[in-house]
Amino acid sequence: MKTGNLTNESKLGERFTFSGTPLTVQRMGYGAMQLAGPGVYGPPKNPDAAVAVLREAVAAGVNHIDTADFYGPHVTNQIIKKALHPYPTGLVIVTKLGARRPADGSWQPAFSPQDLIEGVHDNLRNLGLDALDIVNYRAMGAIHGPAEGSIAREVTVLADLKRQGLIRHIGLSNVTAAQVVEAQAIIDIVCVQNNYNLVNRNDDALIGDLAKQGIAYVPFFPLGGFTPLQSSTLSAVAHRLGATPMQVALAWLLHRSPNILLIPGTSSVAHLRENLAAAELTLSPETLAELDEIADATVAMKH
Ligand SMILES: NC(=O)c1ccc[n+]([C@@H]2O[C@H](COP(=O)([O-])OP(=O)(O)OC[C@H]3O[C@@H](n4cnc5c(N)ncnc54)[C@H](OP(=O)(O)O)[C@@H]3O)[C@@H](O)[C@H]2O)c1
Repeated sequence: MKTGNLTNESKLGERFTFSGTPLTVQRMGYGAMQLAGPGVYGPPKNPDAAVAVLREAVAAGVNHIDTADFYGPHVTNQIIKKALHPYPTGLVIVTKLGARRPADGSWQPAFSPQDLIEGVHDNLRNLGLDALDIVNYRAMGAIHGPAEGSIAREVTVLADLKRQGLIRHIGLSNVTAAQVVEAQAIIDIVCVQNNYNLVNRNDDALIGDLAKQGIAYVPFFPLGGFTPLQSSTLSAVAHRLGATPMQVALAWLLHRSPNILLIPGTSSVAHLRENLAAAELTLSPETLAELDEIADATVAMKH
C-alpha cells in the first residue's frame, strides 16, 4: 500500500510527506479553530492564552496547523501571525476557503470566483504570507455532511490561483469520493479534510482509497467537535490504559490508517499537552477491535 512517505518515529508520530510536495509534517498537528471567541466568532476572552497555545504547540514539535480566515473572522489567522510570525522553517499552515461570517455570526457559503480570490488575499494578509502552503476548498454540503454536486468551477479557480503562485498545493474539505475524483481531473489534490472520528465512520472506504494514492486524510472533529465524544467503552479502555478518553480517541485515529494526520483543536495548553501525548499511546489489536465496536453500536442504534 502506498502511504505517502512515512519516516522517522518521534513523539508526535511518524512524519508524513504530502504526496507530490516537499511538505513534511508530524502526523500529530493542531487545529486552530478553537482560538477564536465563543461560537468561533470574535476575539477570544484571553488572547494571550491563545498565543501561548500556539507557541507551546510549535515548541513541542507541531509543524502542521489548520486554520481558516473565516474563523473569527480573521481573528484566528491574526493570532497565528502574532504568535508565530516570522514562521519557523518547516511549519505548514493549511487554510480553507468556501465560507464567510456575516455580522450575525452565521456560517454562509462563499464560493463564487470573487469570494475565493478575496479569501486567498484575506489569508495572505492576515497570516503575513506571500503564498499559502495548502488551501482546502471547503464545500458547503448539507447539514449532516458532504452533498453530491459539481465542484469543478471552484477547484478551477483554486488551480488558477496556484498557477499565479498564491497557493502552493490544493486540498478539499467536506467532500464526497466522487467530488475528489472530479477535482483530481483538474489538479493534484494533496489532502482531504472531512468529519471523521471513532463514532462517525462514514469515510472508511474513502480513507482507504486515498491511502492507496498517498493522499492525506485529515479528520475534522477528531474528538467529536462541539459535542466531545462520550462512550462507556472509550472510558473503560482509557481507564485500563491509564490514558484519557480523548487520548484514546486520537490514538485510535493514528492507528486507523497511515495517511491520517491529526489536527485536534483546543484553546487550552493543558488539553494541548494531553492531546499531543496521545501520539505515544500504542493500542493492541484487541483494543482496536473493542474500539471499533463503538461505531457498530452507534449504527445499530440508528436502525
Ligand atoms: N473543514 C471543516 O469544515 C472543519 C470543521 C470544523 C473544524 N475544522 C478544523 O478541525 C480542527 C479540529 O476540530 P475541532 O477543534 O472543531 O474539534 P475537536 O478537535 O474534535 O474538539 C475540540 C473540542 O474538544 C475540546 N478538547 C480538546 N482537547 C480536549 C481534551 N484533551 N480533553 C477534553 N476536551 C478537549 C475542546 O475544548 P477546549 O478548548 O476546552 O480544549 C473543543 O471543545 C479545528 O480546530 C479546525 O481547524 C475543520
